[in-house]
Amino acid sequence: MGLRPAGASAVMTETTAPSSARRGLHVITWGCQMNVYDSARMSDVLRPLGYQPVELPDAADMIILNTCHIRDKAAEKVFSELGRLRLIKEARKAEGQQTIIAVAGCVAQAEGQEILTRAPYVDIVLGPQTYHRLPEMVARAARAGGAVIDTDFPAEQKFDFLPEAAAPQTKGNYTSFLTIQEGCDKFCSFCVVPYTRGAESSRPVTSVLAEARRMAESGVQDITLLGQNVNAYHGEGPDGTVWGLAQLAYELAKIPGLSRIRYSTSHPRDMDDALINAHRDLPELMPFLHLPVQSGSDRILAAMNRGHTADQYRDIVLKLRAVRPDLALSSDFIVGHPGETDEDFEATMQLVRDVKFALAYSFKYSQRPGTPAAGAPLQVPEDVKDARLQALQALLRQQQDEFNATLVGKTIPVLFTGEGRKPGQIVGRSPWLQPIHVQGPHSLIGQTFSVKVTERLTNSLSGELVEETEYA
Ligand code: 5AD
Ligand code: SF4
Repeated sequence: MGLRPAGASAVMTETTAPSSARRGLHVITWGCQMNVYDSARMSDVLRPLGYQPVELPDAADMIILNTCHIRDKAAEKVFSELGRLRLIKEARKAEGQQTIIAVAGCVAQAEGQEILTRAPYVDIVLGPQTYHRLPEMVARAARAGGAVIDTDFPAEQKFDFLPEAAAPQTKGNYTSFLTIQEGCDKFCSFCVVPYTRGAESSRPVTSVLAEARRMAESGVQDITLLGQNVNAYHGEGPDGTVWGLAQLAYELAKIPGLSRIRYSTSHPRDMDDALINAHRDLPELMPFLHLPVQSGSDRILAAMNRGHTADQYRDIVLKLRAVRPDLALSSDFIVGHPGETDEDFEATMQLVRDVKFALAYSFKYSQRPGTPAAGAPLQVPEDVKDARLQALQALLRQQQDEFNATLVGKTIPVLFTGEGRKPGQIVGRSPWLQPIHVQGPHSLIGQTFSVKVTERLTNSLSGELVEETEYA
């Protein structure tokens, strides 16, 4: 199994006319928020062909697996899911129904032809950069002319080919993702992203602003800008100059209705002063930042090719908190990168103690074929990784709980997004992304109200409405 950055590409010539026939579409999404966004866009491009979401794969005329390759046995998970879908496809075929199975995302990009070899009942294999071509691929697959594979990195930007209509999937949603940047040129030693998602590229400013306006018009108030390296954003501005993320944020903040702006995932190296100052100037920029550090040891950070030291990370955090004292941080950590000693791991624990995270994701290093660290000497034994992960996660859980405890008793703005599980309950989102439950009327859904936090649970908060005053 090797990485194939630029795989085979089918040349497409057909076009597909809009269809009124209703067809079922079932999308299974693994991995990051960018995959969630991509799955929504794939549904968008298939809607004019009559495809509507269905809950169960058994009722679907088309099933898409949108896959992730970042850790663990990603490809094996995909093949085991495909085995299950094969049975569904055969059962439907016995009833005279066709089922198109498509494998999309980063496993598709990395494995390409291998998927068709091991699972010949798959009809379409497409990488993350070609889903705007899905209608043509579906037309070809439906003609039963054999499988279609398109893991190209095309010259055209897929975003230019997505439906213009007010993003229908966001109707009735008050929060949404918006991908503004893709790919990565940083080549961290452990990571497959530069191979599966390709080189860094940013959408032009006008295209991002137009999509954000459409989302706001359909009711979205809390938007998360996405990119593998979102703060490396360098989109072409309407004035022909290159805009950074800070400049884009100031412009987005002017869009009526968009009251909350977030971005993820950022790299410490791209956390420039302009962006830090935007956190000072823009109340719309939420005080919660996902800024992965991966390790607190300078030796390991260098081996990881991260391009920053632990103290540089500490300095960025100090600067951010100086301009926005309520800013909370979230991060990603890897334990057991090749060469990591007990001292290196202790440096990570010390960085965590110094910074204090509100939330964090931590992983055992997993060898990704084709990446530099995979073949490195001094791989860390599994039991050592396990012990380090447990110690780190215990500390991070404690910090998450301490952060949530600081909110109890405070009054905070909550954007209500839907019904809670219990009768009479509604649920909303805090500025720090926690779900928060209160007793309150449905009529508040879609609005921001002041809530006094009364209790902290592991991953959520409870609260009471403060005289039902709308938050100004
Ligand atoms: N092993 C373990 N964790 C990894 N990540 C990326 N690649 C690997 C790997 N090979 C983690 C990093 C990254 C997050 C999305 O996944 O912490 O920030
Ligand atoms: Fe992967 Fe590093 Fe790029 Fe993040 S910055 S996507 S970890 S290579």
